[in-house]
Amino acid sequence: MASTTSHSGDLATQVLQALDRSSPLLSAEAFPVSSFIELKAALDRLASREMATYDTLEREEVVLEPEGEQIAANGSHEARVFDTLRSAVDGLTVQDLEKAIGDKNVVKIGQGKAFKEKWISKTKDGKFKAAVDSIQDVTREQMQTIKSTRTYPDAKLLADLKKRKLIRLQKIIGFRIHKGAKFALRIPEEATDLTADMITSGSWKTATFKPYNFKASGADQRSGALHPLSKVRAEFRQIFFEMGFEEMPTDKFVESGFWNFDALFVPQQHPARDLQDTFYISDPKVADMPRASSPEDSKDYDAYWGNVKAVHQDGKYGSIGYRYPWSGDESLRLVLRTHTTAISANMLHGLAAKKGSDGRPPAARYFSIDRVFRNESVDATHLAEFHQVEGVIADTNLTLGGLMEFMDIFFGKMGLKNLKYKPAYNPYTEPSMEIFSYHEGLGKLIEIGNSGMFRAEVLESMGFPKEMRVYGWGLSLERPTMIKYGISNIRELLGHKVDLNFVQNSPAVRLDKD
Ligand code: PHE
Repeated sequence: MASTTSHSGDLATQVLQALDRSSPLLSAEAFPVSSFIELKAALDRLASREMATYDTLEREEVVLEPEGEQIAANGSHEARVFDTLRSAVDGLTVQDLEKAIGDKNVVKIGQGKAFKEKWISKTKDGKFKAAVDSIQDVTREQMQTIKSTRTYPDAKLLADLKKRKLIRLQKIIGFRIHKGAKFALRIPEEATDLTADMITSGSWKTATFKPYNFKASGADQRSGALHPLSKVRAEFRQIFFEMGFEEMPTDKFVESGFWNFDALFVPQQHPARDLQDTFYISDPKVADMPRASSPEDSKDYDAYWGNVKAVHQDGKYGSIGYRYPWSGDESLRLVLRTHTTAISANMLHGLAAKKGSDGRPPAARYFSIDRVFRNESVDATHLAEFHQVEGVIADTNLTLGGLMEFMDIFFGKMGLKNLKYKPAYNPYTEPSMEIFSYHEGLGKLIEIGNSGMFRAEVLESMGFPKEMRVYGWGLSLERPTMIKYGISNIRELLGHKVDLNFVQNSPAVRLDKD
C-alpha cells in the first residue's frame, strides 16, 4: 500500500507554508522555538524530495546572564539607588537605602556608580540624596535591546558587559531555507513498495516512489556470511577440481522425462515417475523432442531417441529390454528434475559423440552440485528440494573395485574413512552400491551416497563403444552439512525458518586446501 507521508500540522509542512510566503527564509526568524534536531529532520525530508534546499548557518547570539535579566526588568543598580533617593526629599542613610531596595549588593555597587555619574551626593549629616532631577538609564536600555534582538552593534561594549557578567555569547546553528525544484505546499504521498495491487489497478503509473536512501548506514553493519551449505559446497568443488573434474552446467531445473528418466533406462511404469514422487510441470506440459541447441551441436538426437525407445520396448545391445509399449509423449512430459543425473545423461550423450585420437570418446570426469526436487512430504530430514553432489567418470578398464577405491579417496578427502558398501538397485547402474560411513557422533553407520556403474542400455544407446565404462555417484549436500554443523532438523538449514545468526556464526570451512 502507498503510505501517506504528510500530516498538515507537521513541521515539514509548516516549512513549506513559510517558504510559500517568502523564500529564502531564516530558521531563526521563521521557527525561533523549534528544536534544531526536529527542524533538521524536517528539512532533510524536504531536501531528499527536492522540495526545499538549505544551508547551515552558524552565528553567535548575545544572551543575558541572570544579573543582566534583572537589570532589564528593574533597572541598573545605580538607577535604582537614584530612583529611591529621588523620592526621599531629606535623604537616606545606607541602612535606609538597603531596607528600601532590599539588596545590599545593589546598594553597594549602585551608590558608587551613581556618585561617579554625579546623580547623587551626600548631605552634611552623611545621608545620600539625589543630585539631579532625572537620569537616563543607558545600561537598562542596552540590556533590553540585547534581550529583544540578541545582538548589539558595539563590540567593545559587549566585551565589557561580558566581563561584568551581564551577558554571554552563545553559538547558534540555524538554516537558510530555499524553495526546491519540486516545491509544493504538500508532501506528495510516496509509495515505498511496488505492490501487486498497484500493478493490477495501474496506479503505479502515476505513483510517486520514495527514493532510496543510499546514505543510510542501516541497523546492522556486520558484513555478510556464507551459508553453511555454500561452505560445504565450496569444499566439495575444491575436491572435484583437484581430482581433475570438469563442472557440468546445471542451470535448468526443468527437464523432460526423456533426460530425467528414459535416457537412464527408468521404465515408464517405474514408481519414481509417479506423481507422488515427481513434480510434473503443468504449463507448459510437454517438451520439444531432444534436438541440437546450437549449430556446433552435431549429435544425432534422432538416432538416440530411436535407441532409447528400442532398448526399453524391445531390447537392444544384448539386453532383452522391459518389453512394454514405450510412449514418446510420456517421455516428453516436463518435470522438475529429480536428480542431477539428468544432466549427467546429457553430458555423457555429448561425450559419446566425441572422437579422441584412438577414434573412441575420450576419458572424462564431470561433476555438479545443484538443486533437485522430489515430491516428498517434508519432515525433519526431508525437504521437497535439496542439493545433489554428483560425479561421473568415463574411461576404459573401469572396474567395480576401482569405483570403491575412488570412493575411498574421494570421501577420505572430506574426512570420511572406513567406508562400507551395500548392494543396491538403480535402473541405470549395475552393479549399484550404497555407500556408508561410520559416524563417530551418532555411533552408527550412516548412508552417505549412492553409486554404480552405468548399464550398457544407457551407454550404448548414447553411442559409447562396449569397452567404455562409466562410474556414477550421488549424494545430498545437506547430509554432510548437517553432520558437520550438528543440525538435526533440515529446516534449520534451508528455508524461511533459518536463523540468520546461525549462518553468521557457523564456523568457517577450510577452503584453502593445498
Ligand atoms: N541419481 C542417484 C540419486 O539420485 C545418484 C547416482 C548417480 C547413482 C549416478 C548412480 C550413478 O541418488
